[in-house]
Amino acid sequence: MLSNLIWSALLLASSAAAQTSTYYSPGVPTAEPIAGNYTGGYRPRVHFSPPTDFMNDPNGLFRDAQGLWHMYYQYNPTAAVAGNQHWGHATSSDLYHWDNQKIAIWPPSNTSYVFSGSAVVDTNNTSGFFPDQDNGVVAIYTIAEATGSQSQSVAYSRDGGYTFEAYEGNPVIDLNSTEFRDPKVLWHAPTSKWVMVVSYAAEFTIGIYISPNLVEWTHASNFSHHGLLGLQYECPNLVEMPMLGSNETMYLLQISINPGAPLGGSISQYFPGSFDGTVFTTVDGAARVQDFGKDNYAGQFFYGVPGNDDQVSIAWASNWQYTSIVPTGNTEGWRSQMSVPRYNYLANVSSIGYDMISAPYNIQSIFSQELAYNSSLGNGTILVDYSTVPSGALYFEANLTGLTSATLQGTLNFTFTSSVSGEYVAGGSPVNGDTWLDRGHTYAFDNPYFTNKFSATGEYGGAGIWSVSGIIDRSIIEIFINGGQQSATNTFYATQALDTVRIGASGVYENATVSVGIWGLEDTWAMQANANGTVVGNVTSANAAYRH
Ligand SMILES: *[C@@H]1O[C@H](CO)[C@@H](O)[C@H](O)[C@H]1NC(C)=O
Ligand SMILES: *[C@@H]1O[C@H](CO)[C@@H](O)[C@H](O)[C@H]1NC(C)=O
Ligand SMILES: *[C@@H]1O[C@H](CO)[C@@H](O)[C@H](O)[C@H]1NC(C)=O
Ligand SMILES: *[C@@H]1O[C@H](CO)[C@@H](O)[C@H](O)[C@H]1NC(C)=O
Ligand SMILES: *[C@@H]1O[C@H](CO)[C@@H](O)[C@H](O)[C@H]1NC(C)=O
Ligand SMILES: *[C@@H]1O[C@H](CO)[C@@H](O)[C@H](O)[C@H]1NC(C)=O
Ligand SMILES: *[C@@H]1O[C@H](CO)[C@@H](O)[C@H](O)[C@H]1NC(C)=O
Ligand SMILES: *[C@@H]1O[C@H](CO)[C@@H](O)[C@H](O)[C@H]1NC(C)=O
Ligand SMILES: *[C@@H]1O[C@H](CO)[C@@H](O)[C@H](O)[C@H]1NC(C)=O
Ligand SMILES: *[C@@H]1O[C@H](CO)[C@@H](O)[C@H](O)[C@H]1NC(C)=O
Ligand SMILES: *[C@@H]1O[C@H](CO)[C@@H](O)[C@H](O)[C@H]1NC(C)=O
Ligand SMILES: *[C@@H]1O[C@H](CO)[C@@H](O)[C@H](O)[C@H]1NC(C)=O
Repeated sequence: MLSNLIWSALLLASSAAAQTSTYYSPGVPTAEPIAGNYTGGYRPRVHFSPPTDFMNDPNGLFRDAQGLWHMYYQYNPTAAVAGNQHWGHATSSDLYHWDNQKIAIWPPSNTSYVFSGSAVVDTNNTSGFFPDQDNGVVAIYTIAEATGSQSQSVAYSRDGGYTFEAYEGNPVIDLNSTEFRDPKVLWHAPTSKWVMVVSYAAEFTIGIYISPNLVEWTHASNFSHHGLLGLQYECPNLVEMPMLGSNETMYLLQISINPGAPLGGSISQYFPGSFDGTVFTTVDGAARVQDFGKDNYAGQFFYGVPGNDDQVSIAWASNWQYTSIVPTGNTEGWRSQMSVPRYNYLANVSSIGYDMISAPYNIQSIFSQELAYNSSLGNGTILVDYSTVPSGALYFEANLTGLTSATLQGTLNFTFTSSVSGEYVAGGSPVNGDTWLDRGHTYAFDNPYFTNKFSATGEYGGAGIWSVSGIIDRSIIEIFINGGQQSATNTFYATQALDTVRIGASGVYENATVSVGIWGLEDTWAMQANANGTVVGNVTSANAAYRH
C-alpha cells in the first residue's frame, strides 16, 4: 500500500519534518475500513470490538455538534497482540451501533507509533487550522519512537474527524522523555484556555499544561504521588461533572495505573476535586478505585458533553496481564473489547463521601425483548432459557425496595450457565454486604493472572432500596450495585455458550419487595453484516448496500 511517492518522501525527510509524513503499514487499507467478522462465539454483540486484530485504549472520544459520537482507539491492524499502534476509528449515533471507519491516524514513520491521546472540536478556530468551518477536529496524541522517546503531537481534521493531517510544527511538547504520554485536552471556559493533562508515567506525576491555541503549551502545575502508584501512571482524564444535590459542578481527575494494580495488572482510580484553570485540588486526597473487577482500564470521557450534564465514558475492558493471550485471538482473530458506554456523575454516598456513579448509558434503547419480569419475587427464583436470543446478550436488574435500616437482610444471586457444558458465571449481592462475582467456572482460558473471584463491600445508603443490575455479552459481564455506586467489569471464556439464567432471592425481610427484570439485547452488529456475515464498515463504494 506504500506508494513510491510517500516512500521517497520518507527517505528525504529530515528528522524535524518526519512527524508530518505518513507511514502506511504494508497490507493495511488506507481508503477503507478493515472488514470484520462479528459472528464468533466470543464476539460481544453490544460491546465494541475491533474488526480484526488488537485494540487497547479508547482515544480521542468526542461528540460532534450533530450528536455523532466518535471513538478512536489504539489499534494494531496487523496482529492480534499489542504493537504497530494506529488510531482506529468508529462512529455511532447511540453508542451501541458502531460504524467502522477507516484508520484515522497513521504513524509518521516506520519506526514510530501513534500512542494514546484525545480530540477536541475547535469551534472558534483558536488553532488557525480551520479557515472556513466551526467543526474542525484537533487530535492531540503521543508519538512514541522505536528508540523509546515519547512526545506530544497534534493533527487536525477538516472533514469532521475522518481524516487527519499532522501539524507541521510537531512535536508540540518534547521533553526528551521515554515516559511521557496520553495527553487529554479539555476547554476551560472561565480562563478561555485549553488544558492538557498528560502523564509523566514513571514519575507518578500528571502534568497540567495550558494553551491558547492547541499548539503552544505552557506547563502550569503538577499533580504528583497521589493514591495508588502501581508502577506507572497512564491515561489521565480531567473532566467537569455534576455533583448530585448541588448546583455546582466539580472536577474529577482519573488516573490509570499499570502494572501494579492491587488485584494485579491494570486499574483506574479517580480523585474528585476542584480546578481553577491551572491547579487541580482533591477534596480529600483519597484514591477511589473505579471498578472491582479486573477488566476496566484507560477509560476516557467524551469531549463535547457540557459539564453540568452526566459525563459519558468508555473504558478498555481488558487487563495487560493477559490481554495478549486470551483465546479470541487464535480462534477468531481479534483481541479486546470496550466497556459499554457509561454515564457518570458524582454523589455523596453514605460514609465514604464522594463517589462516582457510573452506569450503562441508555441501555434500554437496545432491549430486544422482555424475557422475565416479576415485581414481587419474594424469596423466589426465576429461571430463563435464553438460547433463542440471537445476540446471546442480556441485561438484568433486581431491586429490593421497602428496606429500612432494621430490615437489611437476605441475598440475591444470579447465575448464567451453559446447558451443554455446565460452565457458569455467577454473582450475588447480599443486602448491605459484600457483592461477589465469580468467573472461575468457565474453562476455555486459564492463567494464574486471570483471577477468578472478586468482591466489594457496599454500604446501604438509607434510601430504602438495594439493587444490582448487569449486562452479560458472550465473553464479558459488567455489573452495577445500587445504580452504579460500585461496578465490576470482567471478561470470561467458556467452551460453550452460556444460555440459561437463574436469578433468585432468599431470606428477604417480609416487608421488603423484590423486583426482577431480564431483557434480551439487540445484536448491534448483525444489521451491518453482508450475506457472508462480514461487516465491511463505511466503504464508500458499497455505502448504499452496507447499511440502512
Ligand atoms: C466468521 O467467523 C466464524 C466463527 O469464527 C466462522 O465460522 C465463519 O466462517 C467466519 N466467516 C467468514 C466469512 O469468514
Ligand atoms: C524503515 O524504513 C527504512 C527506509 O526508510 C528502512 O531502511 C528500514 O529498514 C525500515 N525499518 C523497518 C523496521 O521496517
Ligand atoms: C482561522 O484562523 C486562520 C489563521 O489565523 C485564519 O486565516 C482564518 O481566517 C480563521 N478563520 C476564521 C473563520 O476565523
Ligand atoms: C535525550 O535523552 C537521552 C537519554 O535518554 C540523552 O542521551 C540525550 O543526550 C538527551 N538529549 C537531549 C537533547 O537532552
Ligand atoms: C468559543 O468562543 C465563545 C465566545 O467567546 C466562548 O464562550 C467559548 O467558550 C469558546 N469555546 C471554545 C471551545 O473555544
Ligand atoms: C439549586 O438551584 C435551584 C433553582 O435555582 C434551587 O431551587 C435549589 O435550592 C438549589 N439547590 C442547591 C443545593 O443549592
Ligand atoms: C447466594 O450465594 C451465596 C453464596 O454462595 C449463598 O450463601 C446464598 O444462599 C445464595 N442465595 C441464593 C438466593 O441463591
Ligand atoms: C423470606 O424468608 C425469610 C426467612 O428466610 C422470611 O423471614 C421472610 O418472611 C421471607 N420473605 C418473604 C417475602 O416471604
Ligand atoms: C412491616 O409491615 C407491617 C404491616 O404493614 C408493619 O406493621 C410493620 O411495622 C413493618 N415492619 C417494619 C420493620 O417495617
Ligand atoms: C429498579 O429500580 C430502578 C430505579 O428506581 C427502576 O428504574 C427500575 O425500573 C427498577 N427495575 C425493576 C426490575 O424493578
Ligand atoms: C465476505 O465479504 C467480504 C466483503 O464483501 C469479502 O471481502 C470477503 O472475501 C467475503 N468472504 C467470504 C469468505 O466470502
Ligand atoms: C463515511 O465516511 C465519510 C468520510 O470518509 C463520512 O463523510 C460519512 O459520513 C461516513 N458515513 C458513515 C455512514 O459513517
